[in-house]
Amino acid sequence: MGRGTTLIEAALHGRVPCGCDVNPLSAVLTWPRLRPPELDEIVQRLGGLDYSAAGDQPDDLLVFYHRETLKQIGALRKYLNDRAASSKNDLVDDWIRMVAVNRLTGHSPGFFSVYTMPPNQAVSAEAQRKINEKRGQQPAAKNVAEVVARKSRQLLSDCNGEVRRMLSGVAYRGQLLTQSCDRVPEIKSGSVSLVVTSPPFLDVVDYAGDNWLRCWFIGVDPATVKLTVPKKVDEWQRAMTEGFRELARVLRPGGHVAFEVGEVRNGKVKLEEAVVPCGMAAGLEPLLVLINDQKFTKTANCWGVDNNSKGTNTNRIVVFKKAQ
Ligand SMILES: C[S@@+](CC[C@H](N)C(=O)[O-])C[C@H]1O[C@@H](n2cnc3c(N)ncnc32)[C@H](O)[C@@H]1O
Repeated sequence: MGRGTTLIEAALHGRVPCGCDVNPLSAVLTWPRLRPPELDEIVQRLGGLDYSAAGDQPDDLLVFYHRETLKQIGALRKYLNDRAASSKNDLVDDWIRMVAVNRLTGHSPGFFSVYTMPPNQAVSAEAQRKINEKRGQQPAAKNVAEVVARKSRQLLSDCNGEVRRMLSGVAYRGQLLTQSCDRVPEIKSGSVSLVVTSPPFLDVVDYAGDNWLRCWFIGVDPATVKLTVPKKVDEWQRAMTEGFRELARVLRPGGHVAFEVGEVRNGKVKLEEAVVPCGMAAGLEPLLVLINDQKFTKTANCWGVDNNSKGTNTNRIVVFKKAQ
């Protein structure tokens, strides 16, 4: 599920969205965009909150935030997590939480933080101290409610009546599961037309490290999230085969799996080839591999990585079919 793009696109096409990710962040980021509240409700809720209420304000985070901003973030975090813990959270709270999680860190004034990496690749406090020194920068005070309201206005700008009707027609029938994908008994056998999935590419991405700040905000200890990050190809294949067996079970006859893998280890390891026997072991037929060879990525630019020399430069989508 990741950040939920696939589910949202599915719902926008009138398909019932059904997803799974072992990290609770996924559902936090996805549900609100399937059931968006009205902008007025969001602005009203933001205006009614007490931003002086004491919440967790770790001193470590002062390399990212002005003390006044951190106070507001701490208060908002406490309000949202208390509401969630007592099951009093509504769609407006959930939306505000989704936007706030995405505004935690970034490179423009539209984020709560000083110039830094985006929130899905948050750097450590120590690394941020060095970035601040190098750039001669200090966090400026931000108004957290204003930042969330501005981003909400932008995100909802094309969410018109037609979009809302389409989403509301399918979202409530959807399922967003927070568990390992190799066992999803909640999803009925033979009920799924299309699976779009993108597993960890061996251990090339440090999901726990990259998400530490977002997990802090939603009150989740990243150490408790049991991610599948096999280092070796044979271990990866074993884990993928387990996943494929469950995918094959939930697929309807004639249904498809689009399985995305990135280029890893400078192209020496070909995951698109490694994945074919895993799908076949689960009884699926491999149909084709689609290669997306990109010229430029914003993230590569942020990291100062020359694209097409380091990192993940191409993606491959391996398509499988379940027999009729
Ligand atoms: C390559 S990322 C997918 C990124 C996604 N395409 C996106 O754009 O955000 C892999 C995802 O797999 C999840 N994951 C890792 N192990 C898992 C498991 N055993 N079951 C379900 N999800 C898992 C991670 O939390 C992460 O969100």
